[in-house]
Amino acid sequence: MHNILIAALLAFGLLSTASPIPFSLIIRDDTITEAQMVQIAPTSKACDDPPAKGECATASQAAKSTSKSFDEYKVTSKAEQAAIISLMAFESDDFKYNKNHFPGTPGQGTRNMQSPAFNKKYAASIPALKDKIPAVSNSPADLLDLLRDNETYDFGSGAWFLTSQCSKDVRSALQTGSETGWQRYISDCVGTSVTDDRKEYWERAVKALGVASQ
Ligand SMILES: *[C@@H]1O[C@H](CO)[C@@H](O)[C@H](O)[C@H]1NC(C)=O
Repeated sequence: MHNILIAALLAFGLLSTASPIPFSLIIRDDTITEAQMVQIAPTSKACDDPPAKGECATASQAAKSTSKSFDEYKVTSKAEQAAIISLMAFESDDFKYNKNHFPGTPGQGTRNMQSPAFNKKYAASIPALKDKIPAVSNSPADLLDLLRDNETYDFGSGAWFLTSQCSKDVRSALQTGSETGWQRYISDCVGTSVTDDRKEYWERAVKALGVASQ
């Protein structure tokens, strides 16, 4: 009995190694490309003459770091990816900002412009920052700088926020790819309201990522 099972597993292993289908077609590829980022955030191709010194990131940088965050937080749903990218692109004005400037709330920022309380939770969730947090714990602005200092963290907040702060219900609705699901994510989890501008970002993201609405 066991031998048959082992033989079957071996045969399957051999067959899959010898598979004529390229590996990339078997393994799901969740990498976001620069072209997709430009499609979603049309002015993000370059950082020439940025409006805020040291804050601008290009579509290429955004694509790389956002893809990393989807791996890190296991965001594999295209609909969720589209929601996160559109939120970050909208909030950061096509990745030109990672700090709140209008009105300029200290400590509000990273690419999804989350509030200081969330940045505190987010920073505390990152093991690699453990030793650096005590020095900035009394200053929301300094804590934000710590997160902004590393693109991985700066672009990781959108995926962190969705996967740690949104309810299961919100995520299930969002995963359907429907506009209602996205509206719920914006109103019930992000805590803001849908506007035409926000919706245009989402529509571009859904298109760029090929999200199928169910
Ligand atoms: C940014 O953070 C990541 C993840 O902890 C780490 O691997 C990387 O070395 C950091 N980059 C810099 C420039 O410190």
